[in-house]
Formats: sequence, structure tokens, C-alpha cells
Amino acid sequence: MEFRALCAALLLFFLSSSSAIAVTIGEDYVRPRPRKTLSFPWRPKRSSDPQQVHISLAGEKHMRITWITDDQSTPSVVEYGTSPGVYSSISEGESTSYNYLFYSSGKIHHVVIGPLESNTTYYYRCGGKGQDFHLKTPPSQFPIHFAVVGDLGQTEWTKSTLDHINNCQYDVHLLPGDISYADYQQHLWDSFGQLVQPLASTRPWMTTEGNHEKERIILLESGFQAYNARWKMPYQESGSTSNLYYSFEVAGVHAIMLGSYTDYDEDSNQYTWLKADLAKVDRQRTPWLLVLLHAPWYNSNWAHQGEGDSMMATMEPLLYAAGVDILLAGHVHAYERSERVYNGELDPCGAVHITIGDGGNREGLAERYKNPKPHWSAFREASFGHGELRIVNSSHALWSWHRNDDDEPVQSDQVWINSLASIGCVPRRSHELRKVLMGP
Ligand SMILES: [Fe+2]
Repeated sequence: MEFRALCAALLLFFLSSSSAIAVTIGEDYVRPRPRKTLSFPWRPKRSSDPQQVHISLAGEKHMRITWITDDQSTPSVVEYGTSPGVYSSISEGESTSYNYLFYSSGKIHHVVIGPLESNTTYYYRCGGKGQDFHLKTPPSQFPIHFAVVGDLGQTEWTKSTLDHINNCQYDVHLLPGDISYADYQQHLWDSFGQLVQPLASTRPWMTTEGNHEKERIILLESGFQAYNARWKMPYQESGSTSNLYYSFEVAGVHAIMLGSYTDYDEDSNQYTWLKADLAKVDRQRTPWLLVLLHAPWYNSNWAHQGEGDSMMATMEPLLYAAGVDILLAGHVHAYERSERVYNGELDPCGAVHITIGDGGNREGLAERYKNPKPHWSAFREASFGHGELRIVNSSHALWSWHRNDDDEPVQSDQVWINSLASIGCVPRRSHELRKVLMGP
């Protein structure tokens, strides 16, 4: 065995055997006990059967279908149509695979289908045979309904969160990072794909990366190898050169998915791309401007305190000048919603910041908050749950947070949010934005 592989194997053994030890973060933050990780019994299947099917938006009127087969000869084709079992169209795509330590992935297929009608159910089949799947495309106009939750993992809490989301009739799922909690254990990507397939094969799931997407074995190549191969997002469609940051538009919303774990300083590729993307935003066409990223900028929990500060110092002025309405983050395993805020102060033209890293991962909740509560923090609670953003029209949206311990219709936190475009903040700042975008 090569020296590098031997080191990696020893480290893998150490990390695996230490997983039951309670984790202490910092001096005074101790995570509460998590719920059990789900088990996934092996079931016989044909090697050409599609597994881990999920879909994502892929440019105007298009959807990317992603699935995995054990069989390397299965073609990357998707047949689809608007009647069950009747496929009037076919698209061909691409495939990839990867090796990591002793793990080899199956064949990962990515096929873009379209143009598709909005708000329409399509039936589709992957690889030319097998099960019939169905999906619903999002509406082209308001209202649109997003489900939002980060830090999902694959525990009994995750299952509870997914059951709640399944009942909420959403159009698009937004996931601000920490998806499978696979870290270096690649097979956990496969079990996560199996867990979410019933939801993720029927509605688009739009993700950005968290720290748990990054493989962390020293001396070996690291850097989102599995995430980039398995969860390909529309970065090329949005002019980005990296799957770690991109944007998409749907029904009057421009959503920007930023990367907390790639370069973000002012001469980085991400910052340059962000300026170019903001310059393309037309608030007549997309009155709402959303941003998602993993490490929150406004966080009054002791967990991960200050981890978003340097990214915030670089990018908050740019996002403020652009008039971002809502910024959604994960990472902290709790829920928190801010008032409109900028540069640490209440600001009627600032963004509402929401931390929604309470999906149900194996690490448990982050229960300790800084006291007294900062003046910008409107609501905070350490419970597992999910968020819903119903954008009703160009001026009004209803944000709600739903605890897993409650029935789905119960809203534990709820607030109406006016778009910045509708209250005069965007035109007031267009000169400021132009100056920032034209700057070096
Ligand atoms: Fe995280």
C-alpha cells in the first residue's frame, strides 16, 4: 500500500471509531444528543435500475435529471411526456463517475430536458427502461412556494423534516448546504440519495455547498469531488465557472447561491462572477432577489460564532447595494430570523437574514444563544424544522417556520415581508450599485 493511502486508511479508521464521542465545540458549547442515524437495508435491484433520482432547474424552461446506475453501459437518456407512460420527447446527456479512497461511484447521469411548459406535470423514464417517475415544473409567474432547509443529514429527525416538507405543496426546494453529512464516507452519499429520491425526483432541489460536502482526508485530494459529481447545479447556465456558486431565475425571483467554502475576496472569481450576475438582474422581471449560502452572517447562537464574518465583510456592501431581500443560511443547527439589517444595524433597506440549519443531521441541535439577544434578532429557537417562503406577488411574501414537533399547518414563526423593490429601496440605490459594479 502506498504511504499516502496507508495514512488515509489509518485516519479513516480513527475518524470512524470516534464518531460516537460527544463533540465539544469551543469552550462552552456542547451539542445535545442527536437522534439515531437511519439504516438502509439492502434490496436486490438490477444494475441498470435508476437510483438516487433528483432534479434541478437548468436554465429557462429546462430541468436537469440526475440519477445513478451500477451498470456502466446504461445510456444517459431521458424519455418524457405529459401523459403517464407515453414519452413524446427524448434527451441525451452526459455521465461521470469518481473514485475516492477505496470507493468507486456508480455511473452518474445528468440529462437536461426541455423546453418544458410551466406548472405542468411531466412523466419521465431514465436510461430507456425501468420505473416511471413524474415531476412538476414551477410556475412562470407569482405565486411561487419555496421549501427551505439546510443541514439535512440522514437521521430520524431528517425523515421527520422530509415528511413535513412533503406535505407543504412546494414548487422548489432550496438547500443552503450540508446535505448528506457524508464527509469522507462516500457510501453515505448513496444512502442520502435513496432517502430523498421520493421528494427530489418530483420537485427541483437547488443546493449550495456546506462544510460537510468537502472531503476532509489529509494528504489526499479534497474539494467537493462527490458534491460536484452528484449535485450538478446550473452554474454554466448562469455564467459561472464553478458548481460552488451560481444563480437561477424562477417566477419573478432571482436566486443567487453563494459558496462559503471557496474564495470570496474582492479579486476572487466568485466575487467577479457575483458582480457580473448582479449587473444582469432586472427588478422589473425579477422583483425579488434572494441569496443562499452556508455559514450565516447574522448569528446570535454560540455555535459557529463569527465563521461568516470575513465573507460578510467582503460581500455585504455589494449585496446591500444590489438590494437583496432575503439571505438564507444554514450551518448553525437551529432557527433564527433577523429584522432588516445592514452592517450590524437595523436598516429598512437591508436584508432579512434567516438561519435554517435545523434539518435534522446527526450532530444534534445548537441550543446555546448569546444573551442578551442582539437588537437585530427577531426570533430564535433551537428546534428541528423547515421554512417555507410563499412569494405571493411582486411586493409581498409570507415566510414561515415549522417545527417538526408540530403538525405541518402550525407556523411557529411567521412574518410578512415586503420586497425592497416595492418600498423604494432599489431605485434609491441604483447609483450606488452602479458605482460598486463598475469598481475594480
Ligand atoms: Fe455546516
